[in-house]
Amino acid sequence: MDTNAMQPDLDNDFDHLDPAWVADPYPIWDAMRLNCPVAHTNKFHGVYFPSRYEDVRAIACDTEHFSSRRVVVRAEPPEPLPINPPITSDPPAHRAHRKLLLPAFTPDAISRYEPHARAVCQELIARLTGNEQCDGAADYAQHIPVRIIAHMLGVPAEDADLFRRWIRELLDLGITEPHLVAQATQEMHDYFAQVMAKRRKVPADDLMTYLLHVRIDAQPLSDDHIVGTLELLLIAGIDTTWSAIGSSLWHLATHAQDRHRLLSAPGLIPTAVEEFLRAYAPVTMAREVIKETTVGGCPLHAGQMVMLPFPAANRDPSVFEQADRVAIDRQNNRHVAFGLGIHRCIGSNLARMEIVVALQEWLAAFPEFELAPDAVVTWSRGTVRGPRQLPLLLG
Ligand code: HEM
Repeated sequence: MDTNAMQPDLDNDFDHLDPAWVADPYPIWDAMRLNCPVAHTNKFHGVYFPSRYEDVRAIACDTEHFSSRRVVVRAEPPEPLPINPPITSDPPAHRAHRKLLLPAFTPDAISRYEPHARAVCQELIARLTGNEQCDGAADYAQHIPVRIIAHMLGVPAEDADLFRRWIRELLDLGITEPHLVAQATQEMHDYFAQVMAKRRKVPADDLMTYLLHVRIDAQPLSDDHIVGTLELLLIAGIDTTWSAIGSSLWHLATHAQDRHRLLSAPGLIPTAVEEFLRAYAPVTMAREVIKETTVGGCPLHAGQMVMLPFPAANRDPSVFEQADRVAIDRQNNRHVAFGLGIHRCIGSNLARMEIVVALQEWLAAFPEFELAPDAVVTWSRGTVRGPRQLPLLLG
């Protein structure tokens, strides 16, 4: 997109679904930060877009003026609003909804899944070995998180195509096509209600069984609460991490020097992953403004939405030195890819483990991979950004 052409519209007409924004949003956000740090659009019934770190932080930490009852910007709000605790919960209920999930996502709990994640990566790589080319997103990245989270929740990994279709309909296509959201929500609800009924009869060592037995104030969770949380974990666990793995592969396919550096110093991979999470943070959430307030000098009106672009905050040069440069050995890196405040990501240990393992295994198998000649790389739009088509030469 010609960012100059976009500037006059920042006060009332930005469009986060514009193909140029989807392909390369960073110069647009840089221009916004300089010229209109809290941009606005009349589209989607009115949405604000803060691009400075400090403003994103202020909103994420303010639950008095902003509600999580709507966390996705859509052409039309779904009826009824989906309930996916804890991400759609506000205080005071949020604390208990979140607390019950924390034990399943501690570093110790997650380290148990590392051998499984490694085996999944090796199996996917074995299928590609001997090929000249592959699609890094479709043949590799997208399969890793879905297998792990299916295992954790206790749903069949064979249903992965179904899960990915729901995600696309809920978070991408459904932004402008409300009927797809209604359809995917219903299908997902019926699916989990059915699996849950079976699990009630035959318990297993999985998160679903845990949620069926856990109590808040001595009371069991309602079926709607359990199904809503399972849906959230499935959605949050899949395309976020798949996007982060894909963006990391894209970076290494297009920056041979960084790839060579990681090959000669594999111990640097976890540091590089933090930098990929900063520079290509996949998740932009949203809030509903519930009480008039001011952010960065700009009045925000109740009833409108405000986006929480953690990816734009991560590129703010007032917080990150040479913010637009990807430095895989960056030491001072307090990025906000996993959010801020009470809703900060519960799955960050799991995501980090999966991304690190995915890159370690990939680099060991395909040290000389690069972007295929004339490759057309496509990116998802909306809440989660990552490559969906990533043609690679395997070397
Ligand atoms: C690279 C991968 C990931 C990124 C970048 C990411 C990012 C985020 C962000 C930005 C939030 C804050 C949402 C808000 O403020 O409204 C969040 C919340 C959350 N994430 Fe993640 N996430 C990732 C992976 C995961 C995984 C693997 C899981 C596990 C299934 C997960 C589960 C959750 C949950 C349950 C919440 C809601 C927490 C709450 O509301 O208290 N995420 N994530």
